[in-house]
Amino acid sequence: MKNRGDVRHKKQARSSANPQLVRAVVLVGFMGAGKSSVGRALGRQLGWPFEDLDERIEQRESQAIAEIFRVSGEAVFRRIEHVALRKLLAERRDGSGLVVALGGGAFAGEENIALIAECGSATVFLDAPVEELWRRCQQQAQEGANRPLLVGADQFRELHQARMPHFMKASLRLETNGKEIEAIALEVAECLKKT
Ligand code: S3P
Repeated sequence: MKNRGDVRHKKQARSSANPQLVRAVVLVGFMGAGKSSVGRALGRQLGWPFEDLDERIEQRESQAIAEIFRVSGEAVFRRIEHVALRKLLAERRDGSGLVVALGGGAFAGEENIALIAECGSATVFLDAPVEELWRRCQQQAQEGANRPLLVGADQFRELHQARMPHFMKASLRLETNGKEIEAIALEVAECLKKT
């Protein structure tokens, strides 16, 4: 993680139209983007609670994500993922802050994208070159991470390519390559102040 990248502002979904809506920041991006680590740091910096959607799913289902994929398949996982996201966003309609990290495929589902937009949440795409994402995922796999969709380099690249148009729908895009977690979180926080 070395080069400092640009930050691209896009039209920002706002919660001001309805003060009852959640003031959430939703971190999206491919596997290995650092969504959970940055989300945790951002929550600390903003003084907002942090929720990791995959962790929530594992707790609610009492099953690891990899186990859900193995036993029930990806389609069932996507259903569970959508319901969990809906519940999570619905819990905090009191205007209090919330940082959410999604799993790498959640922002590729139109239903989820619409749900997040409905809530007036800011969406932040944590971007990095696919080679770097692959390297991070390989390293994390060696450290024990079990990602069911981490099959091989070609599939990884194809999936990344297929998902890019969805990630680009986020209200902010941030290049993370070459940056420390805390610095990325700070950059997100600064960008949010400007939007
Ligand atoms: C997935 C990514 C994973 C997890 C599940 C599916 C995906 O999360 O939600 O294995 O479809 O890319 P991470 O992005 O945190 O690895």
